[in-house]
Amino acid sequence: MRFLYLFSVWLHVVAAIIWIGGALFLALVLVPATRQAAYRGIAPALIQWSGARFRSISWVCLATLLLSGICNLAYRGFGWADLWSGQLWQGPFGRTLGIKLLLVALILLLSAVHDFVIGPQARERWQADATAAETLRLRRRASWFGRINLLLALIVTALGVTLVRGGI
Ligand code: HEM
Repeated sequence: MRFLYLFSVWLHVVAAIIWIGGALFLALVLVPATRQAAYRGIAPALIQWSGARFRSISWVCLATLLLSGICNLAYRGFGWADLWSGQLWQGPFGRTLGIKLLLVALILLLSAVHDFVIGPQARERWQADATAAETLRLRRRASWFGRINLLLALIVTALGVTLVRGGI
């Protein structure tokens, strides 16, 4: 049982690393690279391909975080009954968990809007006319969604750490 718990926490941390690390790589390395004159010609295709590839990876990571998070809670003695009775949200652990899960819900919502609405719109316009004002507006909007999600992910990570060890 203890092995399963340790495995679940390991999986939780690895999924967070892959998801946040991948998003940071896209934002800090790949997107700036596409702004270089040498890569401008292939930028839309490169962003489209890597965006689609990372989209599936990030949803697998989010699903893994959700499932392993539920396993972590089960090991700590919390079940569905505690969720509905409100027992789960009691004390410092419960309050931190409550805030963490609210932010996770917000991340899921923003990711869905980014991946299935704003991202595809920006990509379509970019392929049709890379320099149009509308294209730039849509690309900027998609970038902002990505940045906000990344910031939320870092806050959720900090909450995960304080969940286990207590606050400052
Ligand atoms: C964006 C999603 C998430 C991220 C980035 C994240 C990140 C983390 C991190 C960094 C830790 C600390 C591990 C440690 O320091 O030992 C942690 C712990 C934990 N997380 Fe998450 N988490 C996420 C989603 C969830 C969800 C959805 C749940 C519950 C359904 C959850 C439940 C827990 C629990 C119970 C622990 C304590 C594990 C233990 O027993 O040591 N997490 N999380």
